[in-house]
Amino acid sequence: MEFSGPQAFVLLVTMLVLFLIIKLLEPLRDAEEPPYIEPTIPLVGHAIGLLQRKYDYYTDLGNANKLPIFTLALPGMPKNRVYIINSSNLVLAIEKLPKKLSFWFVQAIFTVGMAGLSKRTAQVLQDNILGTEDRPSLFMDGMMEFHKYLKPGEALDRMTRLSTSSLADSIERQFVGKNTTKSIELWAWVHKEMATAITRGAYGPQNPYDDPEIREAFSALETNVVGLISFPFPKWTAATAYKGRTKLVNAFRRYHISNGIQGASAYIQGSGNIASQHKLPILDKARLDAVGGHAILANTIPTAFWTLYHIFSDQSLLEEVRDAVKPLVSSKEMEHGNWKHEIDITKIREIPILKSVLYESLRHYGSGTGTRIVVEDTLLEDRYKLKKGTFIFMPNMLYHQNREIWGDDVDSFNAHRFSTGKHYNSGAFRGFGGGANLCPGRFFAMNEIFACCAMMVLRFDLRPSRGAGREWRHPGTDGSNMSLLVNPPKETVYADVIEKPGWALGEWIFKL
Ligand code: HEM
Repeated sequence: MEFSGPQAFVLLVTMLVLFLIIKLLEPLRDAEEPPYIEPTIPLVGHAIGLLQRKYDYYTDLGNANKLPIFTLALPGMPKNRVYIINSSNLVLAIEKLPKKLSFWFVQAIFTVGMAGLSKRTAQVLQDNILGTEDRPSLFMDGMMEFHKYLKPGEALDRMTRLSTSSLADSIERQFVGKNTTKSIELWAWVHKEMATAITRGAYGPQNPYDDPEIREAFSALETNVVGLISFPFPKWTAATAYKGRTKLVNAFRRYHISNGIQGASAYIQGSGNIASQHKLPILDKARLDAVGGHAILANTIPTAFWTLYHIFSDQSLLEEVRDAVKPLVSSKEMEHGNWKHEIDITKIREIPILKSVLYESLRHYGSGTGTRIVVEDTLLEDRYKLKKGTFIFMPNMLYHQNREIWGDDVDSFNAHRFSTGKHYNSGAFRGFGGGANLCPGRFFAMNEIFACCAMMVLRFDLRPSRGAGREWRHPGTDGSNMSLLVNPPKETVYADVIEKPGWALGEWIFKL
């Protein structure tokens, strides 16, 4: 092919401009940094890979290069690069440096974008994040309230009592004493029951999520949390999530104006008081609460779904769970021949097989990425230079799907994997994270999921109500939402809920 003089000039200038763009956006490499993995297309290859393959892209790279840690050039990210942790031992090394390689900085930055905070509140939230300066820290003081009130104790018990009694009432209303069999779509059902019960425990009697429109707004927000954080004009670039958030913010604004927080759990009241001490306007308090649902619900709902799905879709597992739960119900005859059946949650949560199914759900369906920011230049394990301001990604699938750690059945769902007494360290199992950032909400989430499973296995059978042969058919997983740590199902699962005979008529309550 021949070029005329002007064409050759245009081509030359275009190539020069491209070269300059690449040089400008390409990170300045340091030989002591973790090794760089070259993209197939200069500059944008990794970004395209991530867009197309999502979490699987990390697994592809990790399996192909086997390096314990590597660097990807990603234009647009701080320092135009990210560090990827491929080895679960390095995850443990990162856990030991929570202030230098910090999740809290990530949370503060993401919260600002996700909640759409005002400029002043954004500044306050990002000031003195670690609380190391001699002045109050909105972020750390609020986080401490979470850790203080979500750990086992009276505050957690009160919240669990409120939410499990709301769950028990709802189950009673829907399925008990009906002459017809009720069919449910399992994901929609779990979503509604968990969202309503958990938020009732957290926000109290004036819980905004009691309104189905607010639960829908939450689902809308969840469709594109990443979009709210990543682009400057989310009103247009993440319109559905933006609209959902606006609705949630308005609901929480009304909640604060009518002082609904008076009836809330200790951790919501505690973090609300910290917000007041920092003189946050009501609108920003509402914005923070609106996105708080992401931490509380986003991963609890899919975990509850898979735990229930696996128990009910495997007859022998169902019988095993029933046999373990049944002796923990105490039934007392009350007046007029009525009975009171009490399920003791403190004992239910210690049942090894229940815990194992839940943990295996977190492992098997756990996607998500632990994210850290390098707060100061750090030499990790005396070997890898990590540059200040860079993001570190710890993709859970790299550890959860590692054959050397989990054995040859790594790809299957093994309900008993966590009940054999074998110990897996927190570098290999990232279900609730680990170290200083270990999820403080895990007790609450597990209480709720176990309560739901116990009540359902004791009193009901679930039988598939659609599909060939009315057999349980795995719904597949939807890995498209990168803000989630646990993938939801891809397809619908319809089931008939059939009341089991054998229990004397009466009231069912959860005891704590
Ligand atoms: C099954 C449900 C849940 C799962 C799988 C889950 C998972 C996690 C994980 C993996 C982390 C650590 C992230 C990291 O280190 O990168 C985390 C942190 C956190 N979770 Fe959860 N979570 C769940 C439920 C909850 C609930 C119900 C609450 C609140 C009521 C909650 C509040 C938090 C908070 C505040 C943190 C940050 C802790 C810190 O950085 O100090 N989570 N969660």
